[in-house]
Amino acid sequence: DKGNSGEAVLGAFMEPVTEALDSTDCAICCEHLSEPSSYGEGHPEAHVAIKLTKCGHQFHKLCLLQMYHSIHKDASVQCPSCKTIYGEKTGICPPGNMHWRICPDLHLPGYENYSTIMVTYSISPGVQGPEHPQPGARYSTRGFPRRGFIPDCDQGRKLLKLLMVAFRRRLMFTIGTSYTTGEPNTVTWNEIHHKTEPVSNHSGHGYPDPNYLDNAVLELAAHGVTEDCLAQF
Ligand code: APR
Ligand code: ZN
Ligand code: ZN
Repeated sequence: DKGNSGEAVLGAFMEPVTEALDSTDCAICCEHLSEPSSYGEGHPEAHVAIKLTKCGHQFHKLCLLQMYHSIHKDASVQCPSCKTIYGEKTGICPPGNMHWRICPDLHLPGYENYSTIMVTYSISPGVQGPEHPQPGARYSTRGFPRRGFIPDCDQGRKLLKLLMVAFRRRLMFTIGTSYTTGEPNTVTWNEIHHKTEPVSNHSGHGYPDPNYLDNAVLELAAHGVTEDCLAQF
C-alpha cells in the first residue's frame, strides 16, 4: 500500500479552482493562494490551486500532494482544515482475529437491564511489513487476547458493527511504543477506546461511563468509520 501515487488518489477528491480564489491562505504552507506554494519553487505547477470536492477547502495542489506523501499512504486523504475524510482510511494493524459473543449474565454498571457483548481481539507477534515503523523488525503483542465490553443495547450493537468495519480496515491497533509500558515495536490500541474492565474500573477503562458509547462512535468517525459504512453489511 506504499505504492499509491498521490496524483492517482487525490485526483478523485480535488477539482480545479475556477472562480476567483478565496482571499485565504493555503493552510498547509501558509502562503496566500495567489502566490506559489512554498513547496514548489520553480515547479511548473507551483501556482495551481485546487479545492476539495466535499468541503470546498482550497490549497495549493503541490501542498496537498506533499502532505499526502509525508504521512501513511493509503487510498484516503483528510482535509487539514476541517478533517473531512476522502476515500477509505485504512491502518496498519497486523493480522489477527476479532470475535464477539453475548454474555447473558454479565451486566455492566449503568446498563444493569442489558446483557453484555464481549469483543475479543487476538493478535500474535510477527515481523513488521513495509507499512510499519521499522520494516523487518519484530513486533511484540502484550495482553492478548484483549477484550472489550459493550452493553447489548441498540447503540451498543451499532458500536459493535462500527468496530467490525474498523477492524477490517486495520484501524483497531497499530504498531509503535506503548504509552503504558514504554515498550517499542509493540501492538497498541489505536485511538478507538474500549472498556476492558466489565465490573471494576481500576484502569479508568471501565464502567460506569455514561458517555462511552457516544465517545467511541466519535472516535470511529475520526477514522472515517460512520453509519454510512454499515451499508456493507
Ligand atoms: N484499557 C483500554 N484502553 C487502554 C488501556 C486499558 N487498560 N490502557 C491504555 N488504553 C488506551 C489509552 O487511553 C490510549 O488511547 O490505549 C491507547 C494507547 O495507549 P497505550 O498505553 O500505548 O496502549 P497499549 O500499550 O495498547 O495498552 C495498554 O491496555 O488492554 C490493555 O493489556 C493492555 O495493559 C495494556 C493496556
Ligand atoms: Zn500551500
Ligand atoms: Zn475541509
